Amino acid sequence: MSTASAIARPNIALIKYWGKADVEENLPASGSLSVTLDTLYTQMRVQFDEELTDDRLIVNGEAMPHMLARVGRCLDRVVGTGRRRARVDSTGNFPIAAGLASSASAFAALVVAASAAAGETADQLQLARQAGRASGSAARSLYGGFVELSASATSIDVRSILGPEEWPMTVIVAVTASGPKPVSSGDAMRQSADTSPFYGRWIDEQDHDLAVAREAVLKRDFRALAAVAEHNCLKMHSVMWSSRPAIVYWNSATVACMETIRVLQKKGVPVFFTIDAGPQLKAVCPPDAADTVADALRATAGVQDILRTGLGQGAELLADA
Ligand code: PMV
Repeated sequence: MSTASAIARPNIALIKYWGKADVEENLPASGSLSVTLDTLYTQMRVQFDEELTDDRLIVNGEAMPHMLARVGRCLDRVVGTGRRRARVDSTGNFPIAAGLASSASAFAALVVAASAAAGETADQLQLARQAGRASGSAARSLYGGFVELSASATSIDVRSILGPEEWPMTVIVAVTASGPKPVSSGDAMRQSADTSPFYGRWIDEQDHDLAVAREAVLKRDFRALAAVAEHNCLKMHSVMWSSRPAIVYWNSATVACMETIRVLQKKGVPVFFTIDAGPQLKAVCPPDAADTVADALRATAGVQDILRTGLGQGAELLADA
């Protein structure tokens, strides 16, 4: 038996990935830029065992057979198809499948743990590429702080452009609904590419938005980052809304939270929002504005809960398996 454990945190994209260049290889059609979070995590323990006849997946103490195939394929890619079967234990401290990028932290932790349990020595970029094959956004959770993913026709590159301590930021998640999302991001991306009249333009403008965001991060220009991140988020949702059938992840509380952010901005509070494939709103602000932002979101109609976190490190192998 060989066992290893790893931990990874979710990331939130400020310049979004929405569309694939290659569905088979799960290659994104454009680059993206994200922040890796701190206090939210997924921990994965992988145990390869010659006695097992099938893989097993336990998520927060419960067997999850319907997620097993995707996990098994990821293990095959990391370790090879002739591998021993594995018992995979996943524990996390935030709701899965609700637009909080639980697949990102899960697959980032999985590739690190699986590679170590198999005694392999893969570098961080190789592991990021393997995580990205399972979930596009997972490639970014291998790295900490502000992370840029660049996409070519055949591969991805991922790097941290600013460490978590180099430009401290607080991310406040306003939870407006729990439970799984109505359409998976993979299906929704395909639907967007096939049917939205805005999809081509969205992809064409990604390099520009990415360059503006990268420069804003490197100059620590909050206003510039806020402007391009909100614009990019709303463009992605416009592509979703203009798909047929329309893909709408928001609820009325999501919109109310956007209004709360607008009111704060008018008062001069440095904050911006972003929203992914789910109804939660994520507000990003410097730490000294975080109390004001959290209080305002908590008081917004329909907000069920508030999660608050700083920026964190990339995926890490844990010493104690
Ligand atoms: O990694 P996936 O397939 O779950 O897709 C992520 C899609 C968004 O969260 C909406 C955007 C992103 O870049 O994370």
